Amino acid sequence: MNSSFPVEVRIEHLLAQMTLEEKIAQMALVEKNSIDPKTVAAVGIGAVLSGGGGKPENNTPLGWHTMIMEFIEGSKSSRTGIPIFYGMDANHGLGNIPGATIFPHQIGLGATGNSQLVEEIARATAEESRAIGLQWNFSPALDLPTDIRWGRVYENFSDDPELTSTLGAMYVRGLHDGSVLASAKHFVGAGSMLWQTSHNKNFSIDQGITEADENRLRSEFLPPFRRAIEEGALNIMVGLNAWGDAKVTANHYLITDILKQELGFKGFIVSDWYGVYEISDSTYESTVSAIQAGVDMVMLPYDYRTFIADVRQAVRRGDIEEARIDDAVRRILRAKFEFGLFDADTQPPLSVIGSENHRALAREAVAQSLVVLKNNDVLPLSKKLRKIRVAGSAADNIGMQAGAWTVEWQGIDGNWLPGATSILAGIQDAVNDSTMIEFDKDGVFLEKDIADIGIAIVGEKPYAEGWGDTAHPKISTEDLEAIARLTASSREVVVILVSGRPLIISDELENWDALVAAWLPGSEGAGIADVIFGDATTGTLPITWPRTIEQLPISASGFTRDGTSPLFPRGFGLRFD
Ligand code: GLC
Repeated sequence: MNSSFPVEVRIEHLLAQMTLEEKIAQMALVEKNSIDPKTVAAVGIGAVLSGGGGKPENNTPLGWHTMIMEFIEGSKSSRTGIPIFYGMDANHGLGNIPGATIFPHQIGLGATGNSQLVEEIARATAEESRAIGLQWNFSPALDLPTDIRWGRVYENFSDDPELTSTLGAMYVRGLHDGSVLASAKHFVGAGSMLWQTSHNKNFSIDQGITEADENRLRSEFLPPFRRAIEEGALNIMVGLNAWGDAKVTANHYLITDILKQELGFKGFIVSDWYGVYEISDSTYESTVSAIQAGVDMVMLPYDYRTFIADVRQAVRRGDIEEARIDDAVRRILRAKFEFGLFDADTQPPLSVIGSENHRALAREAVAQSLVVLKNNDVLPLSKKLRKIRVAGSAADNIGMQAGAWTVEWQGIDGNWLPGATSILAGIQDAVNDSTMIEFDKDGVFLEKDIADIGIAIVGEKPYAEGWGDTAHPKISTEDLEAIARLTASSREVVVILVSGRPLIISDELENWDALVAAWLPGSEGAGIADVIFGDATTGTLPITWPRTIEQLPISASGFTRDGTSPLFPRGFGLRFD
């Protein structure tokens, strides 16, 4: 408990006092619905998480703070007094908490290409996280999405290893400056699985197989993790994908030989969700494989008792040496000491959550994330137009503009998000009083006159993980019909795409006068009006935009599978100023 001692001394001093049971319990990360604070203390559990949407009864910042602090304070009353990490996916701001600032999902941050902005966003996210007691954020994702049919493209920055490395390192820095442990994920190659290889029968590519290509491993997949380690990352999460014919979670070469020995990673490796038990049909064999491969902490969504019993038996049988347990616990304690979990807890006030300055930062990020892909001399729009017509499913739908990992794991559809601004509201605020704005989601307008400009704000309903896997990422029929009606009743049409990934739009593009990719902008929808009525746009594509499905997957260097040219190359973006 004496913070004047060096961390390494504190680790050895504490480890020497721990029983085998207490060491094993430190290796358990349990979902909060599967345990209560008293049991956390009695057993000496190492960490607790809220999975997507893992909310308290009182779903407010105060309710979250109360719940998290009950677990943390509970853990301090264990025999060793070792506090837990409480972890959550605050991957676009504190998304689970109603009223929090929702920043653009990472793909939009990739489009900004602005590493200083990303660091500021991570620090703001850390501040809102610390206000509810959270000290561990399962971010940044550092996967390189090469196939837009995957449901997790938007959780990542780019398909470019270099941009991902730079932004990922800055995100780690921002979280750590804010005393929140980052989790670089999902080690390794988890953005490049092959279509139709998922082991999950509900999915097509998520949790699938990544080709075990040593050259790509070293030139593409490893660099972002190497940079994160150089930046001081003390946690890495292994993915649910397979590397060739074996689950990454059981791969000693990747986890121990490369991460821990070759790259000198001194933090702890955590498994993802139910990943350990997907290694084999036996919980015992699976647990031994994962821990022997180098996993230090196991995420247990449902059952920690089996885990503890299996590990205790494995040590007794010699299937896991106690030295391996000690190594895992040293790594976990190192992160806990480095992040001050044993020291006085200084938390910002709850008022930082959704604060004005954070929302202003998020609005700036939205503006910088927009990528103008087509502009027949239409943008920027005048604020003094006579009539603007707005249509599309994403115009007045904050749930769609935020995307998943917002209040619920799969997100929300509609306008229930305290403090947020819809894209439509931003447009209404931006124009002069003399400008008339008509809105109809389906583009049905009674007046027979022609509007000066039609703005179609269309996109994808929220989805998370494999539930977003789709054979044809495209604009919905309803939205295409809304665009058609708007085109018939407006002089010129601007299409704004609110999506987690590039969509296949090759056939429709020629009918549009302008196209803006807005990704998943989050709570500050007014950032879009700042650009389309504004004086500058700077965003560029963080990922290659395919022309057809047959071009997938597209390599990190931008080569399509069938050798034809993509619709837009990575780095493309029209400017006006
Ligand atoms: C999920 C995701 C991972 C997330 C974890 C906890 O299955 O794969 O990215 O951090 O579980 O929610």
